[in-house]
Amino acid sequence: MQTGMSEKSRELIARKLEIVFVDTYTLYVKTQNAHWNYMGKEFFSLHLLFEKQYQDMADAVDEIAERVRALGFFVTVSFDFFQKKSNIPTENEVPSSEMIEDLVTGHELWICNVRKVCELAEQEKDAATLDLLGKRLSVHEKFLWMLKNYL
Ligand SMILES: [Fe+2]
Repeated sequence: MQTGMSEKSRELIARKLEIVFVDTYTLYVKTQNAHWNYMGKEFFSLHLLFEKQYQDMADAVDEIAERVRALGFFVTVSFDFFQKKSNIPTENEVPSSEMIEDLVTGHELWICNVRKVCELAEQEKDAATLDLLGKRLSVHEKFLWMLKNYL
């Protein structure tokens, strides 16, 4: 594959992107859980907010996975891999009273990790990955801001 990036460089980025994929999937499932199971005073507005956020992340996992494929590598899709590799805790049950804080922490971990992957993408001159992750960063920072208003 002649794209001006070495195979080593593409693989380095692809493996880091795979973790971003796993982290996004984890947050997607956690947000969906909150959409269905959250109970509290702000139920209706949060129900809608969670829906908007998980729908966005559903599109994002597809984009991230396809970027890994475009770099020439396969994407590992297994629950076992998700649990082992996610930067975001994947515990089974989170009570309603802790759901927003749990999502806030999850987005913070996602953002901190992606910032490091952006540095790597810049270093490896991978403009396409940098563009994708830059756009995703601004979305997750916005999600974080919105969620924090409910704390
Ligand atoms: Fe729904």
